[in-house]
Amino acid sequence: MGELHAETRLLDDPEEAGGLLAEGRLVAFPTETVYGLGGAIHFAGTIERIFKAKGRPADNPLIVHLAQASVLERVVLEIPRMASELMEAFWPGPLTLVFRKQAWISPGVTAGLDSVAVRSPANPVARQILQACGCPVAAPSANRSGRPSATTWQSVFEDLNGRIDAIFQGEVCQVGLESTVVDCTGAQPELLRLGAITLEQLCFVRPDTIRLQSKPSNVNSPGLRYKHYQPQARVLLIEDVRQLEGTKSRALLSLTPHEFGHQFGLYRHLPDLGKYAAEVYEFFRQADRLGMETIFCESVPRTGLGEAIMDRLSRAAEND
Ligand code: TXA
Ligand code: MG
Repeated sequence: MGELHAETRLLDDPEEAGGLLAEGRLVAFPTETVYGLGGAIHFAGTIERIFKAKGRPADNPLIVHLAQASVLERVVLEIPRMASELMEAFWPGPLTLVFRKQAWISPGVTAGLDSVAVRSPANPVARQILQACGCPVAAPSANRSGRPSATTWQSVFEDLNGRIDAIFQGEVCQVGLESTVVDCTGAQPELLRLGAITLEQLCFVRPDTIRLQSKPSNVNSPGLRYKHYQPQARVLLIEDVRQLEGTKSRALLSLTPHEFGHQFGLYRHLPDLGKYAAEVYEFFRQADRLGMETIFCESVPRTGLGEAIMDRLSRAAEND
């Protein structure tokens, strides 16, 4: 299997997608958060191809996806009580937990760490595909590294056509932001990546949950080090969009409606945090398709999902 593929197949049968994964093929599929680029974890060559297809730095580990929690014992050394409680509350769903890994999990998957990140997605199609595959599947977000995650199969196609074996033509992802990542290898749950499950929700189940204390360069969460979620257009976070002037080369994404929105080349008003989260990446991609130079994003309140949205927006706006 070479690096580039003349043709990426489009699929609509979950059984077929699962079968291809079981053979070691690279198949992108929908989850409730974003599309994932799947590869069965016991094929070293498959894991290597995931990194190549995405252009992903080799030291950024992958999340292992399971059809159900009952197979977790196959990949982790132990299941601490904090993890059982969080799984009970949020699995299947958009929560990734980090465990001590079993020896057979290859360093390609975990980027050499002795821990492994695992989640069991809630999306019914994802579950059917994982079930049909019958083995654990590593799946980073199905985008070229650094770009906004893909929440539609068309966006996966835009980034990865010719680089992977197949794309499942599923629905638009409902959540739109990646899973929350929580490290369960220490004395208490540690939030590594903000996401679909909020800190408040985690603390409701485990009041001792703490936020990542260290700087992004910390090895605990290697993925935080890199450029992420960035469209080609420059992203600017704006507190008060009423001061803005629109032109055909500028895009505006706002939480409140604005009568001057039509002055922009692309304008979207997303009335609540759920919709904002669900559509922000697709808005970025649409702005790029239209050749926008600047994307203005109205800041959102840092409550509930707002915290994860602001995390993604500020990373998209980072310019070094
Ligand atoms: O919602 C999601 O999580 C999506 C869908 C497809 O499931 N996947 C996703 O994968 O966002 P990716 O590869 O884009 O992000 C994986 C994140 C990175 O921040 C990475 O550093 C972290 O998980 N991660 C993976 N393994 C880890 C580990 N052993 N310890 C700490 N962080 C880990
Ligand atoms: Mg990603």
